Amino acid sequence: MATEKEYIALMFNDIAPTYDKLNHILSLNVDKSWRRKAVRRLKKSLSEVSHPLILDVACGTADSTVQIAKSIENAHVYAIDISEKMLEIGKGKIEKLNMSDRIDFYNSCAENIDFQDDTFDAVFVAFGVRNFSDREKGLKEILRILKPKSSLFVLELSEPQNVIVRWIYNLYFKNILPLVGKLVSGNKNAYRYLQKTVAEFPMPKEFINILKSAGYQSVRHNALSFGLCRIYQAEKS
Ligand SMILES: C[S@@+](CC[C@H](N)C(=O)[O-])C[C@H]1O[C@@H](n2cnc3c(N)ncnc32)[C@H](O)[C@@H]1O
Repeated sequence: MATEKEYIALMFNDIAPTYDKLNHILSLNVDKSWRRKAVRRLKKSLSEVSHPLILDVACGTADSTVQIAKSIENAHVYAIDISEKMLEIGKGKIEKLNMSDRIDFYNSCAENIDFQDDTFDAVFVAFGVRNFSDREKGLKEILRILKPKSSLFVLELSEPQNVIVRWIYNLYFKNILPLVGKLVSGNKNAYRYLQKTVAEFPMPKEFINILKSAGYQSVRHNALSFGLCRIYQAEKS
């Protein structure tokens, strides 16, 4: 029987060919502006580092990886993911953009990162933490490979707290999203899984506490688009 991690990797392998298209359709392209905002924060935190090493965890098809490499021109970006097919699409994008000398991909998981302690000037995870099969282990592993005084940036979907926005969100997320997801990707479970993982993801206060218990300090967060998405920043001491 497949482990949870294998099941998640197989599911993303299955939806990889339609992932980008669906991402942009389902978020009405707003995901692009969320990524841009998070990458801007990341860039600001690295303003004093001349050649930063950045790790993009759960990089998927490399949309954030590309954004990071484009906006932080002196950076080298490493990108890891457990889905071979998502990585293949990401690698194709990087080749087309002639950026292969600035980005390296590895098929690897957040819970067991194959880099030495204190390696990276920043770690970025976009829409990935909620998929970790062992969230606590993944966050601790990221802390291990971060350099002291460096930050983890987490971009994650969340359920909005405003009653009206939440009503619209529930209508969309529970009814429209799984249906469109199924029609375009052909996978009836993947977009139910998305809705379930977002619903189960901890609320901001709780996630901040999880980050603190994993060993991070100076944890802060911003809500984007009425709380549909959040950027967390957490530092290694
Ligand atoms: C929703 S996608 C996000 C991809 C990309 N970061 C983005 O912004 O579009 C989630 C990705 O997390 C990957 N993933 C899930 N669990 C993982 C883990 N434990 N370690 C590394 N990658 C993981 C999946 O394979 C998938 O590509």
